[in-house]
Amino acid sequence: MQIEEPTATIDPSTAPIPVFQPYLGPEVQEAAVRALQAGWIGMGSLTARLEDELASYLELSNRYVVATSSCTGALHCAFLQAGVGPGDEVICPSFTYVAGHQAVTATGAEVVFADIDESTCGLDPDSVRAAISPRTKAILVLHFAGIPARSDEIYAIAAEHGLRVVEDAAHALGTRSDGRPIGSFGDLICFSFGPVKIITSLEGGAVVTGDQSDVQPLHELRLVGVNKDTAERYKDQRTWEYDVVRQGFRYHLGSIPAAIGLSQLALIDTFVENRIEYCRGFNEAFRDLDGAIVPDTDFTDCGMFIYFLRVAGGDAQRTALQKHLSDRGIATGIHFPNAHHFTFLRDARRVELPVTELIADQIVTLPLHSFMDDVVRERVIDGVRSFFS
Ligand SMILES: Cc1ncc(COP(=O)(O)O)c(C=O)c1O
Repeated sequence: MQIEEPTATIDPSTAPIPVFQPYLGPEVQEAAVRALQAGWIGMGSLTARLEDELASYLELSNRYVVATSSCTGALHCAFLQAGVGPGDEVICPSFTYVAGHQAVTATGAEVVFADIDESTCGLDPDSVRAAISPRTKAILVLHFAGIPARSDEIYAIAAEHGLRVVEDAAHALGTRSDGRPIGSFGDLICFSFGPVKIITSLEGGAVVTGDQSDVQPLHELRLVGVNKDTAERYKDQRTWEYDVVRQGFRYHLGSIPAAIGLSQLALIDTFVENRIEYCRGFNEAFRDLDGAIVPDTDFTDCGMFIYFLRVAGGDAQRTALQKHLSDRGIATGIHFPNAHHFTFLRDARRVELPVTELIADQIVTLPLHSFMDDVVRERVIDGVRSFFS
């Protein structure tokens, strides 16, 4: 089948610049069409292949990948498999996407908010210590934007108190910490292949575990509690002789998203390299601006999902910057508003959150794509610089 190339020519000097722009080039479209033509569109051998290729990309040794239909589903399965449930507390950053909080509350456990540090925007170990109670069962670590959190210190606290750690690596596929890929060490690590993530499978995710005995329960959790069918589906077959052994969810990943994910994974080194280069260029261009605070990193080994800036003047000045950019066709985002102010979460126990409050008031997400035309990047740079000067 012939793939239709997009015919419209886009003028990068005038076209709107979105915050996110997933790469959906010919190899991605061909992979989807091939998978459709194969005719087995549910979870199947392509899902198993995506797990294998991820294990290889993440340099896993004696660690295991279970693909899911989203990172939210992966987080939910991870917390359940960690034994989190009613009566437990999970220490979480407020400064993260609510998917993590919802995964905690879906188990019946309660979210407890701890603060972040200004440098990594990840959990502050001292704040985590302050948040621990006799009911604490686990800690949720976010690697914000693709910058590794201080996970060694968090794991040390977890070991001291007998806690589980679930890492939300939705932003951090391709990030290394002390030379090791995020996912290649640690307790339960969750990735996202959602529509705008570094690689997309349209929707999708994965849990990585270092414990082989987690794999079967994770398979059951993601396949509505069914105990046997995964091995058959991985051969593009089904078995009708199965038992349902636990509460489970419909979190398994089909063949079409898996095929798209595989085609993207083959390109990830280029995606990550380009994003690092673009982020470095933005940091250089904005570092000297009075009133702008750039990310505190040179992005080495960071699989950057977003590029962000802090507007020192806070929310009102940030809104003005967003309008200034919007008038120039440049979209922006906010990762993240204060989760502890959301209706659903505002009664959750928390310790003092001064850094979270400060950063949530200042942070703005600028466009970052895996392939950005020089003209597009210059427009973003000019837009931001013209605002601050
Ligand atoms: C930090 C974080 N965690 C989890 C998720 C949820 O990922 P998914 O859409 O794959 O469920 C997101 C989505 O944007 C995210 O930003």
